[in-house]
Amino acid sequence: MHARALLLFSLACSTADPAAGGPARVGAQPPTPPSKVAVSPAGLAEDAPCRPIEKVDYPDVVIDWRPPCDAAGTVVSAGGIQYAMDVYAWRGFLARSWPVDAQGALDPAQPPGVGADRRALWETWSATADLFPSDGSAPGPWGSPPPLPAACAALGPNPQPQRRLLRYTTKIEMLASEGPHKTSDFGLLANEVIDGQGYPVYYEVRLDRAAWDYVLSAGLDTRAGQEGKTASFPAGCATATGGELGATVIKAAWMRLSAAQDKADFHSAEVYLYDPRTDRCEAATVGLVGLHMATRSQQAPLWAWATFEHRANAPDITEQPLQGQWSFLDPSAVDPSCYTVPRGAACAWNEPPQARPLGERRQPTQVVRALPLTQQSTRSTDARSVNQQAWDALEALQPGNRWGRYVLVGTQWSCPAGVTVAGCPSGAPVTPTPPPNAAVCPLPPVVSSPTPPVLANGVMETYHQGSSDCVGCHSAAQMAAGGGADFMFFLSQAR
Ligand code: HEC
Repeated sequence: MHARALLLFSLACSTADPAAGGPARVGAQPPTPPSKVAVSPAGLAEDAPCRPIEKVDYPDVVIDWRPPCDAAGTVVSAGGIQYAMDVYAWRGFLARSWPVDAQGALDPAQPPGVGADRRALWETWSATADLFPSDGSAPGPWGSPPPLPAACAALGPNPQPQRRLLRYTTKIEMLASEGPHKTSDFGLLANEVIDGQGYPVYYEVRLDRAAWDYVLSAGLDTRAGQEGKTASFPAGCATATGGELGATVIKAAWMRLSAAQDKADFHSAEVYLYDPRTDRCEAATVGLVGLHMATRSQQAPLWAWATFEHRANAPDITEQPLQGQWSFLDPSAVDPSCYTVPRGAACAWNEPPQARPLGERRQPTQVVRALPLTQQSTRSTDARSVNQQAWDALEALQPGNRWGRYVLVGTQWSCPAGVTVAGCPSGAPVTPTPPPNAAVCPLPPVVSSPTPPVLANGVMETYHQGSSDCVGCHSAAQMAAGGGADFMFFLSQAR
């Protein structure tokens, strides 16, 4: 933790109010915060201090600008752990989506969805690609985007200094073409998801300060620096009075908004869409349709894998016959044979698009949520009640709050066998509070029965929803030099 974060930390955690660390109830204002949060040299609000852990059996979703240090401690059953993980996910998502001003500073009194839509804090973070500049130079400071490609700069003076670049439309594009991960390993992941207008969904991956600093301080930003090493990102640790944030990595999915789509319904952004194959660039307004958030913490040593979707993306497969207005499903395009068991041959949902010449509009992908929200897990609770809490709290702040348009599909977590951390289903004692901060929690990357076993985002794992196991697939991640990447595929991009 660097000096500035320490200062902020003591500001927020040593307030005289004994309740400062306790849970504010749903809809309550955040505890007396500083009026503005300091910004880094790059002009960004950085490393908000995390919320101390709360000693409650069942924590609530609170809307607070400080992300939780870890999931709450006192959980009494596997279902309780799942609940705590889902609350941890919603709180972390809201804190990291806190609106920032043009300078990147956040105001703790201005929660998400109140007033005009503004950039979310995580949008000011650096992208993973910024760690590995294509000319082999050293990365710039965290939070400072690299220069735009000429084709975008040529679009004229940028009316929006924060307008950033989106360029990736598939998973494999974000992996190095040469390296431990071969395109052929990822079959279905090579496919784009096409929206109702015929345009692809765009993806980006952004790193918080803890993740970025770790990569640089461990020398993992170059292939040579990775030689002989295994990555181990810092894990968030929580105590009754404070704690430390671990690494967080966010992958977001964006859809071009059509004139018919109501901007008020989405968190939106002004971006450049760049196609490196044609060197074409255009300015566009996009809406957030999906978000993965991976956070490493003491209670989720193999990372907590949370995934959010826009509520109008696609219906659950069980909602048959399919009807209504969806961004990624036109019910009239679904062949009736899809409703029969076994499914008719002409069924057109969750099928990759046909290849088309570059630049041509594509046939929209028809998406349904293959694993309904109500059946996310056979082993534990689903996220419905936690979603309802978050929606109620957001609605209380601002009727029609756009952030209440997002649903937590679920949070996958796992505890390695033999590792005693609070909340492991392996029989480890559940302690009221984790032991005093052991700084980081360097646990061996062993995957053991994640909960829930399968978790998918309809616009991110579209074509393999039935088998999508976040932690299982990510456990295969290797760095460019071949060492274990601690579940983070982006380390394979180092040159
Ligand atoms: C079948 C494999 C697979 C599954 C299943 C999968 N992912 Fe990934 N994920 C990838 C690959 C490959 C990348 C790197 C390329 C990219 O960024 O899209 C990635 C990237 C990410 C990243 C950015 C960090 C990184 O590793 O570079 C996050 C965060 C993420 N996925 C979260 C999730 C979550 C949450 C789930 C489950 C809901 C999930 N993933 C399911 C393969 C998978």
